[in-house]
Amino acid sequence: MQVKRVVSGQRPTGKLHLGHLHGTLNNWIDLQANKEYDCFFFCADWHALTTNYEDVGDLQQNTYDMVTDWLALGLDPDKSTIYRQSDVPEVAQLHLYLSMVTTLGQLYRVPTYKEQLKEIKGKEIHTYGFLGYPVLQTADIVLFGGQCVPVGEDQLPHLELAREIVRRFNNLYGDTFFEPAAILSKAKKVLGTDGRKMSKSYNNAIYLADEPEAIRKKVAQMVTDPKRIKKTDPGDPEACSVFDLHRVYSQENLADVEKQCRGAMRGCVDCKKLLAEEVAESLNNFRKLRAPIEKDPMLVKEVLKKGAEKAKVIAEEKIKDVRKKMNI
Ligand code: TRP
Ligand code: SF4
Repeated sequence: MQVKRVVSGQRPTGKLHLGHLHGTLNNWIDLQANKEYDCFFFCADWHALTTNYEDVGDLQQNTYDMVTDWLALGLDPDKSTIYRQSDVPEVAQLHLYLSMVTTLGQLYRVPTYKEQLKEIKGKEIHTYGFLGYPVLQTADIVLFGGQCVPVGEDQLPHLELAREIVRRFNNLYGDTFFEPAAILSKAKKVLGTDGRKMSKSYNNAIYLADEPEAIRKKVAQMVTDPKRIKKTDPGDPEACSVFDLHRVYSQENLADVEKQCRGAMRGCVDCKKLLAEEVAESLNNFRKLRAPIEKDPMLVKEVLKKGAEKAKVIAEEKIKDVRKKMNI
């Protein structure tokens, strides 16, 4: 069996929420369990800088919080290589080399670049670093021989660009890198409590580490079908973000939830209570596993140190090869 190298990263924004779990982490955990893959998972702290360089105060803590959640979810340093991007400076070195063979036109064309410029307000991100985000991402992947990259749909243009950069590099200097392929993650739709995308910055997130009481409160505040005003009005689950979460958490009685909503047989308050219990219960085990990891910060430190040591062996060898080929 040909074992394939998987590389994927996540920006440290602090504790993980349900959006991260259903968009990314569940997929990582499946890949880790699959013997066909050898997984490298890293904390993309340099990528966090591209939009947050003015506010670095929480960067270390966010990294620890995120990696604590990873471990409590079951990412296992004995099975996967778990490290922090900035602990492997060869990534930055490769980023520099790749930047030589990437044109501005290629970078300006990346759709996420244009979108983010419009979306992110109040921050100056017309920077060199932010434009180069996908070049850094390419370095992340190809330095470690990444062949498969689990990502969400929004990241596909970055993977396309990564393949272009690899082809250009390989053409100029000889075969050096794999062209990485995306593994499209089966992301489930999980919206925030206000019906927008779940995000820390929108203040609408349910965190994996939230206590059941906090979960109940947050779910109670969720927006529902706006047309259902009175309990006697029939509701439309398709227009309700509570129902979106029921889809993920209440598979067994989903049909009932839907019927009772459409038939005005259950009020939204009760419907939310049901959901909150399902969500809270699904995280019981996670909370139990998380507590001791959180209490012992040395543990995460040690995991990251060991992971970086493993990653560095591969990185150093690849950089040596690159420098030789570029006659440096
Ligand atoms: N850009 C990715 C995201 O926002 C994070 C990331 C950085 C990444 N480097 C990567 C993902 C390398 C996969 C491979 O989700
Ligand atoms: Fe949404 Fe449930 Fe209310 Fe229907 S009953 S609108 S699914 S919260």
